Amino acid sequence: MPFMMIAIDGPAGAGKGTLARQLAHIYHLAHLDTGLLYRAVALKMSEGKEDLSDKDAALKIASGLKPADLKSPLLRDEEVGNIASQISTIPEVREVLLIFQRDFAKTIFPSKQGVILDGRDIGLVVLPEAPCKIYVTASPEIRAMRRLKELHEKGISGIYEAVLEDIKVRDARDETRKISPLRVADDAFILDTSELGIDEMVEKACLFVDSKYPKTSGLTSLSKE
Ligand code: DC
Repeated sequence: MPFMMIAIDGPAGAGKGTLARQLAHIYHLAHLDTGLLYRAVALKMSEGKEDLSDKDAALKIASGLKPADLKSPLLRDEEVGNIASQISTIPEVREVLLIFQRDFAKTIFPSKQGVILDGRDIGLVVLPEAPCKIYVTASPEIRAMRRLKELHEKGISGIYEAVLEDIKVRDARDETRKISPLRVADDAFILDTSELGIDEMVEKACLFVDSKYPKTSGLTSLSKE
């Protein structure tokens, strides 16, 4: 079996996290949700009551990040995501986190067949050499509906218009920042999940992964599950 390297990118709420977790399970891959790195820096900034524009503080926190920092349930909070989006515009922070991500991708995990990373700039910046790149997307309206459902499931109330506006602001910031903006790599498979359920999304992705790694058969193992 070849060493697999899969890069997943896309905007918030398109389903890339769910897809990356499922592909990691199906193909036995070590998974890094790279958004958690930015979220971990954001959480520490917010807990330390740091000024969000203090680049030196953010850089210091990013440089000292440990894998254990990626485990807090607080990382998933909406507010932490918003701060993360702001922190992610600082070039020096991106540079330090780039090293963390590349180190992870180079690691040989004895029980795994390779690695999968999901984020915003994986296919273009972190792992441009990845043979298999998937760009997961969905309309802002569908992503807002999904986010709202998630909030309701957690017992948190939310207003559709506010969630949609939040998504649009975050998209704009992620797409227009000067360094490593959210873009589609030329060789990425574009997977629009607006009209797809999770199973269909995973099936389409497996077809693509299997085409890039002909000796693997994720689709076959999927049908047996
Ligand atoms: O995917 P997420 O919502 O957990 O990411 C939070 C923020 O982190 C996102 O708004 C932008 C930033 N991010 C990034 O700039 N590059 C990545 N590879 C992953 C996330």
